[in-house]
Amino acid sequence: MIALAEPTANPASVKLTLQTLEIAEDTTAIRSLDWDRDRFDIEFELRNGTTYNSFLIRGEKTALVDTSHAKFRDLYLDELTQLINPAEIDYLIISHTEPDHSGLVRELLELAPQVTVVGSKVAIQFLEDLVHQPFKQQLVKNGDRIDLGGGHELEFVSAPNLHWPDTILTYDHKTQSLFTCDVFGMHYCDDGIYDADLTLLDADYQLYYDCLMGPNARSVLAALKRMAALPEITTIATGHGPLLRHHIAELVGRYRDWSQAQAKAETTVALFYAADYGYGDELAHALAGGILKTGVAVELIDLKVADLQEVREMVDLAAGVMIGMPPQASQSGDMQAALSTILAAITPKQTIGLFESGGGDDESVYPIRNRFQEAGIKEAFAPILIKETPNEATYQLCDEAGIDLGQWLTRDRAVKQMKALDNDLDRALGRLSGGLYIITAKKGEAASAMLASWVSQASVEPLGITIAVAKDRAIEAFLHAGDQFILNVLEEGNYQHLMKHFLKRFAPGADRFAGIKVHPAANGSPILGEALAYLECEVVSRMECSDHWLVYSTVDVGRVSKPDALTAVHHRKVGNHY
Ligand code: FEO
Repeated sequence: MIALAEPTANPASVKLTLQTLEIAEDTTAIRSLDWDRDRFDIEFELRNGTTYNSFLIRGEKTALVDTSHAKFRDLYLDELTQLINPAEIDYLIISHTEPDHSGLVRELLELAPQVTVVGSKVAIQFLEDLVHQPFKQQLVKNGDRIDLGGGHELEFVSAPNLHWPDTILTYDHKTQSLFTCDVFGMHYCDDGIYDADLTLLDADYQLYYDCLMGPNARSVLAALKRMAALPEITTIATGHGPLLRHHIAELVGRYRDWSQAQAKAETTVALFYAADYGYGDELAHALAGGILKTGVAVELIDLKVADLQEVREMVDLAAGVMIGMPPQASQSGDMQAALSTILAAITPKQTIGLFESGGGDDESVYPIRNRFQEAGIKEAFAPILIKETPNEATYQLCDEAGIDLGQWLTRDRAVKQMKALDNDLDRALGRLSGGLYIITAKKGEAASAMLASWVSQASVEPLGITIAVAKDRAIEAFLHAGDQFILNVLEEGNYQHLMKHFLKRFAPGADRFAGIKVHPAANGSPILGEALAYLECEVVSRMECSDHWLVYSTVDVGRVSKPDALTAVHHRKVGNHY
């Protein structure tokens, strides 16, 4: 590996830098390092920034694989033009059209109008809408090849729905490098180029899979099968975070394991939306994230490109159907045909959920809602209406709506599991008792709360506690590493009304604190006015424990309102539920 250039600082902001280096013969990576980006799509909160990776492959002809985010315009284009005269670039390979990779395509085409843009049929279609000018193009399908000369024969692998319908992977037979864009990526910004230390990357790799790939597990498995037909892969050149070289088998294997687990789920939701319209993509992923927390699988289907047979099959397979409203009928004949297919195929055994996409031109929710109601189809939640730019509260609403739908679809299974526990074991387990607490948390515009009793002190230096939180609890999204929250301790003899309030079922997005006296802590989370004591906590890590997360947090501030009062204790009779 030869470093061609030291990271270059952006004069306007030291938070954006560029890193250029040779990763294989004739192959240069141009990594745009976005050190402080703290939010990507949906609830995807980034702790470690992200990178946008682009690659230049020089055989007798030259190919550029993806570009960068528009915020890197000057840095990226300056670097690229130092590396190569743009007039000498023959191909621009578009792995996926989301703007973090194709944000500079228009500028590149101005600099290099001779370039042939290579992509899947869907990618080229999306790009035509994005660029609004004619460009030379070449559509590629799975197995198609382009020979750059000098041994660099590129083979394309179709990977639709990872995580957009337009995705292709590119394999260079000479360097045994597979260029994957989003696939196998992670949002992790570091000078380190490769996946040398997995312990640093584990959590980000999994979060990225859960948010972006988990909702299309069947498509992930199909793409892995196509990848398996390639010769040896020695480098996976991702579009985000480190490139994979040291742990390829392990990390690809994790995608396989996670996707197989999803594919085995007894219940599936088909989620139809328009990937490149309004906020459809972000909202769909937030809803999918909520559904996945309940152990229900999700398949995202882009209404714009799905064929009607596929739509029909997905509706037949799914227990629940969600629809993100596409643009109005006059502009979207194919999408209207897809909606009609859904309406024709759905039965009263299924459950629906509808949401606006917020594109400014959405098809109205209400006519289709009426049609579903007339057909006797149950609705899991009231339609989600998007009237403003979505914020944290909107994504929380979607997450909670997804959880509601998943819990509704699995309610019979949950009751069966509860009854299945041996009676003696059940009663013995019920003798474990704990205090009663309310966890409260706030992030931006969103806030949440949950009654908890599986709470324990876990360390002395530093002071730390653990809380077990079921995976399908809405507050789970507020308890990732680095998040802050309050643990409110309830008082013996003075907790019933608080317990009753926080145990009730809240509609998605409902204010948990309406009618409850609170004041903000230094970390911004609400302190309950009637709490006997409170602790300000920060999440350090979490361990997966089957259907719960065990959340370990440090505690740095605490107050007691009544020094002589006792903590409320939760005495249970059985151990199969709280
Ligand atoms: Fe990294 Fe889906 O764009």
